[in-house]
Amino acid sequence: MKNIKAIIFDAYGTLFDVNSAAEKCKEKIGDKWESFANYWRTTQLEYTWLRNLMGKHKDFWQVTEDSLDKSMRAFDIKISMKNELLNLYKFLSPFDEVPKSLKTLKEKKYKLAILSNGTPKLLNELIKNNDLENLFDDIFSVEEVGVYKPDSRVYDIPIKKYRIKKNEIAFLSANTWDVSGGGNFGYNSIWVNRNNNIFDNLDYKPKYEIKDLNKLISLLS
Ligand code: LAC
Repeated sequence: MKNIKAIIFDAYGTLFDVNSAAEKCKEKIGDKWESFANYWRTTQLEYTWLRNLMGKHKDFWQVTEDSLDKSMRAFDIKISMKNELLNLYKFLSPFDEVPKSLKTLKEKKYKLAILSNGTPKLLNELIKNNDLENLFDDIFSVEEVGVYKPDSRVYDIPIKKYRIKKNEIAFLSANTWDVSGGGNFGYNSIWVNRNNNIFDNLDYKPKYEIKDLNKLISLLS
């Protein structure tokens, strides 16, 4: 991990808990809330990949709504809850250690950025709603290139902006396919394996796997 010039984070699932929207409604949804949350997330990601393949981009807010709509029908959830669930996507909770770890990295003068499928508006709202402003040097959104991860044009956004080498970026994601995407592109990808998952077979194995962001600080020093 020498010569790292920028630390770039994926947002959804890595810094912010995507299941926290449905969890906040678990009284109303009942026991199926977690299966519903996982289905919603899987459908949302499938839609991003399918839209890439079809060459039909729609922004992440619309894809989140479209996937929510299908998931609510699949789980027989009352349509009257749709706006509440969708709106909660702007208030997803960060994972416990995230605010403090980011502050420590910022104090150590690392350049910190987000590279995400989210729209600039959505990402900025999420950051503001969680009091995480002023920690990031840049919020890079796929909207700049109109295509989703893992298209290489997305991973190229910070390279163009910072004019640094691919391996001078430490890229952190909890999404295995995003770790592979960034790694195949040339980043030093680090897998944030929060839930003891199994890694993909997609031609890249991350050199580093950490349980949460606390471990990042020791890895970098
Ligand atoms: C993102 C998705 C991959 O934030 O979680 O880009």
